[in-house]
Amino acid sequence: MSELPFKKVDELLGGELVGERVRTRGWIYRTRHKGKMVFTVIRDSSGIIQATLFKGDMESEDDFNDAKKALVESSVEVEGILVEEPRAPGGYEIQVRRFHVVHFAEIFPITKDQSEEFLMDKRHLWVRSRRLTAIAKIKHSLFKAAREWFDEQGFYEVTPPILTGSAAEGGATLFEVKYFGDKAYLSQSAQLYLEAMIFSLENVYSITPSFRAEKSRTRKHLTEFWHLEAEEAWTGLEGNIKIQEELLSHIAHRVAEWNRKELEFLGRDPKDLLKIETPFPRYRYSEALDNLRKKGVELEWGDDFGAPEERKLTEDEELPIFVTHWPTEAKAFYMRWDPKDTRVVLNDDMLAPEGYGEIFGASERETDVNHLIERLKAEDANIEDYEWYLDLRRYGSVQHSGFGMGVERVVAWLSKAEHIRETIPFPRTPSRIRP
Ligand code: 4AD
Ligand code: MG
Repeated sequence: MSELPFKKVDELLGGELVGERVRTRGWIYRTRHKGKMVFTVIRDSSGIIQATLFKGDMESEDDFNDAKKALVESSVEVEGILVEEPRAPGGYEIQVRRFHVVHFAEIFPITKDQSEEFLMDKRHLWVRSRRLTAIAKIKHSLFKAAREWFDEQGFYEVTPPILTGSAAEGGATLFEVKYFGDKAYLSQSAQLYLEAMIFSLENVYSITPSFRAEKSRTRKHLTEFWHLEAEEAWTGLEGNIKIQEELLSHIAHRVAEWNRKELEFLGRDPKDLLKIETPFPRYRYSEALDNLRKKGVELEWGDDFGAPEERKLTEDEELPIFVTHWPTEAKAFYMRWDPKDTRVVLNDDMLAPEGYGEIFGASERETDVNHLIERLKAEDANIEDYEWYLDLRRYGSVQHSGFGMGVERVVAWLSKAEHIRETIPFPRTPSRIRP
């Protein structure tokens, strides 16, 4: 082959190189042959392009014969003349002159109409699909946009531990690991450690995996998910809510701007995301119960929302909504009691539109050490495990708040995915740890 530099497929689809000899590389996405012709479509990380071989135009007969033999997912280098071809995907085609097969693939096990179970077994190959690739790009943009926003707002990114000695979100969903002679747990949330960091850095965030031993088999639950968490000194519930909505709106706008192609492929109108403007509607928990009652759903004070309630609460909304001031007994020990009504805490859950469910969990934090001890006792927690955390209220305690965002749930909503497992390359669920 020549010394021409390799171009990415999307550079070829830009159209500026029409009429020129070009070179690209990737994997065979589709192929068929008929007589003196081979019709292939080549896939790389940026897209797909048609590459057509006409035996008479080829500079090497061996290349032509190899192309005929090469099966789907073979890796190839292709060189030829770029032409406009309205019938081809993307509107352009390479009229091939040279075709080098880097590796002849075996028969690819994934074809159309296979069961979800089979595709999960072959996940290491299924991650090549255009759908999972588009969603992975949206996830990349989410991280990039979030870091951009936090950086502009003066937050520091920090690195809390994943192996921990105490629960942040209650014992029921803890994964235990052997830790030499001792017990340790996989982190459910970085929150308690982020709280320790605000005394030096004031505004901090982290992006870590979080683990929940939840048996729930729903379209929203993973046992390992990516958690974007922030903690802000000198900030109450109101300031915390503003940070959450500004951050999410920034992410939605950036994804609309950077991932137009992927969103369209996934059937999400980028305009849906450009509409995500602050402020988001807010409802107190008690109002949410009233609204549900009007829609024929009776919940008891203290009940959590299931998927049907989340869907009902968001069905008439274009924006995500906040549900604030939850009953104390329904929420974690660290949430601050509302001084005006101690039956509730100063917290919010943010619910995504279209029934994608709870995407943020947040609160102002309790600063009174005795209240914290009381709440821990009520949960039967081992106070000793939390002594270090209680220390944070003994040396220069300040009002502070924070939140955790479930990255995959946000990606599912942005991408209009059917199931959360589409938003992570190797999903971990109660029934699946392999591949
Ligand atoms: O509401 P959660 O449990 O809140 C916390 O962990 C707080 N300590 C966060 C903080 O304030 N720093 O979890 C936060 C978010 C949820 O709103 C949800 O989006 C996501 O994490 N999440 C899950 N995502 C996927 N699978 C699961 N099993 C999840 N559990 C929580
Ligand atoms: Mg929650």
